[in-house]
Amino acid sequence: MTGSPRALVVGGGGREHALVRALHDSPLHPELYAAPGNPGMESLAVRVPIAASEIGAIAAWAKRERMDLVVVGPDLPVALGLADALHAEGVPVLGPVRDAARVESSKVFTKRLLQKLGLPTAAFRVAHSASEARRIILGARYPLVLKADGLAAGKGVVIARREEEAHATVEAWMERGALGEAGKILVIEDRLEGEEASLLVLADGERWMLFPAARDHKRIGEGDTGPNTGGMGAYAPARAPTPDQGLTIARAIVDPILRALREDGTPYRGILYLGLMLTATGPSVLEINARFGDPEAQVVLPLLEEDPYPLFLAAAGGSLPGERHGTYVRHAGSAVCVVLATQGYPGAPKTGQVIEGLNRPFPHGIRIDFAGVDRRGPRWVTSGGRVLGVTARAETLERAREAAYAAVSRIRFDGMHYRRDIAATTLQSGSLTI
Ligand code: AMP
Ligand code: GLY
Repeated sequence: MTGSPRALVVGGGGREHALVRALHDSPLHPELYAAPGNPGMESLAVRVPIAASEIGAIAAWAKRERMDLVVVGPDLPVALGLADALHAEGVPVLGPVRDAARVESSKVFTKRLLQKLGLPTAAFRVAHSASEARRIILGARYPLVLKADGLAAGKGVVIARREEEAHATVEAWMERGALGEAGKILVIEDRLEGEEASLLVLADGERWMLFPAARDHKRIGEGDTGPNTGGMGAYAPARAPTPDQGLTIARAIVDPILRALREDGTPYRGILYLGLMLTATGPSVLEINARFGDPEAQVVLPLLEEDPYPLFLAAAGGSLPGERHGTYVRHAGSAVCVVLATQGYPGAPKTGQVIEGLNRPFPHGIRIDFAGVDRRGPRWVTSGGRVLGVTARAETLERAREAAYAAVSRIRFDGMHYRRDIAATTLQSGSLTI
């Protein structure tokens, strides 16, 4: 390889903006491209006008333009097999092949895998038809959790408090097809209680490294109320698990999963995201994702004290250094990300509102990641439900939190709303058993 390496980030949201920034900061000075990217990253990367779901076009472009590395952001291209298409073209990719990505694209696959490996996860049943689902629901213990098997853009989980709610979900998903194919098979599981945490793991098929644990805030409302969203904010390192507990959990869960996928002939190379519930009796796996979280990436990446580019490339190539297996990617400080959403989100968002406050420089340590933002002439306007992620990095969590909210107060658009309790001290769920 001569000159700077060339890298493509696939996707166009806040997570991908954070990925572009992290790679831009690499001492290797990679030439960066983003497909399709967003207008906030234009000073850091060249945008390529191909949608993230056009996997054939992306693979052909990456080969033609001699990419040294492709980093896949969103779930859809991963599930569609972008990594398989890139492998066929001989382009290194941080992201699992389609069969390995079933850990995210099929909840039934994941629950059965966890069960087979004896790993902790909520007790569950699978329903292939509405009548089967109704039999399970009848007389079950409530609250009961209903999950669509397939990808559902954050809308595929309902925590039903009563039987009527569970029936209504079965009717909507299985009979009316509200989630398309994704909702035709259901996982029905026990509700778990505790503190949630996201563990992001960089895996090369066999070896793995950990990013600091992050805490996402998924509900729209303060105090974790209202419907689930893609994520209204996050912070890292999480208050729980501690760094040592994080390693213990990863050793217990990641090694067997990587081994099983290797034995299936589909080694997992990419980011393995463990969504955990830290319950009074120990950690339990709520979900697995086959990519960075959004907004977890926005708080984890700014903490890194070592260059992610060579680590990403090594994971893509199955060659993470043996001595780094089971260690943390070096990091320091704390970060808090507050997501600014439009009126209507997580339902139908109102878009086209002018965003003010973005043109003045922000203080050191503040990063503004664009998600649902478009340019209209000289102005920025809203174009999606989650508009911006405002992230502050500081030495302590408390300072990062103050700095993030101070930066938020400089931005406004009609209908802007955000949670004021991101990274606030919450009641911890008793003592933690790891
Ligand atoms: P998932 O897509 O499976 O992570 O579900 C989205 C969110 O629903 C999780 O982050 C939790 O907040 C909640 N959730 C999912 N499964 C359960 C469960 N078994 N018990 C309690 N909450 C759950
Ligand atoms: N923030 C949760 C996710 O990316 O799935």
